[in-house]
Parts: sequence; structure tokens; C-alpha cells
Amino acid sequence: MPCHAGGGTLAILATLAGFAAACREETPPTAERLVPEVAGVAAVRTSELHAGPAVPVAEIRNPYEGDSRALEDGRRYYNWFNCTGCHGGRGGGGIGPVLADNDWIYGGSPAQIFESIVKGRPNGMPSFGGQIPEARLWMIVAYVESLSEASGEDQRHDARAEGTGPR
Ligand code: HEC
Repeated sequence: MPCHAGGGTLAILATLAGFAAACREETPPTAERLVPEVAGVAAVRTSELHAGPAVPVAEIRNPYEGDSRALEDGRRYYNWFNCTGCHGGRGGGGIGPVLADNDWIYGGSPAQIFESIVKGRPNGMPSFGGQIPEARLWMIVAYVESLSEASGEDQRHDARAEGTGPR
């Protein structure tokens, strides 16, 4: 398998969300149908985490974690879908908040970033759920994650451990 994200997580995602094809940047045929309900996240949450709904979504990992090619594609999609227009080049901020730091309104874990993009957020963040296939969304998430890492302020692991949600 060309992807080297954590074996268990990836296997589950591959089964549930048709992610196997995503490794080759092909859009899985089911993705468009799945994205509007954030089915990937919901499915992973219920099947992978056995301790019940109290387990934070923050535990969910990006299937493209550590994949430099996906990161580069994510950067491209970030520009294509005009995230730049509101969040600035390299997430420096504009109409939308700075993404290249660790000051998250809705949480900086991969699943929380994914949700921000898919569902939108009330104060001016549009929902991209119906527009971007799930595989590409995760590539964008990988890129957004990399912005705060590049800024040298990576506190994502704290957020994960605490399961911080919107604050
Ligand atoms: C029309 C302007 C606009 C566009 C386009 C836009 N955003 Fe946003 N975004 C916002 C605003 C405004 C917020 C803050 C929303 C709030 O506070 O409720 C936000 C919030 C977010 C958040 C949550 C930040 C946090 O601190 O928790 C993420 C992640 C995000 N956007 C990523 C993206 C990505 C990726 C794209 C491109 C696919 C994108 N945005 C496109 C305006 C935009």
C-alpha cells in the first residue's frame, strides 16, 4: 500500500470511506456522497473508538499524515478553493483568522480542522462539504496542519490530549 499512515486507522478509513483509491489522488466514487454528512469522521468515531461518544474527535488522525506529496497537493487545493482569499497566503490571516499559529477557535486537531472546512463555521467560514471530495479535504487539512507546524508553535498534541473543542 503506497500510504504509510497508521495501519489500523488507514485500514478502517479505506473500508468505510473508500480511501484506498485516494492514495493515488483519484477521487473515490463514494466521496461526494459521504462528505456532506461528514460521514468519514462520524464513521471513524463510532467504529474505531470504543469508549463511547465521550472520546474526542481529536483522536482521529489525518490519513495523509507525513505524506509530503499529499501536503503539496493540499497546498494547491488551498489556493484553488480560494482559502487564500480569506486566510491569506500560507495562512497568514485576512478576513478569516490566521491559520499559521495555534490559536484555534474550533480546535486544531485534524478532525476539527476537517469539520471547520466541511461544515463551515458561523462567523463567515463557508461550508465546502459539497464542493471538495473527502480525499482532497484531508490533503487540505494536512497543509493547514503544516502551517502551524512551520510556525514553530506546534501544540497540536496538547489539543489532542485534552480533546479541546470550540472555546
Ligand atoms: C469567505 C471567506 C473564507 C473562505 C473562502 C475560507 N474561509 Fe476559513 N474561515 C473564514 C472565517 C471568517 C472563519 C472564522 C469563522 C468563525 O469564527 O466562526 C474561518 C475559519 C476557518 C477555520 C477554523 C479556524 C479556527 O481557528 O478554528 C479553518 C480551519 C478554516 N477556516 C480553513 C479554511 C480553508 C482550508 C479554506 C479553503 C478551503 C477556507 N477556510 C476558506 C473565512 C473563510
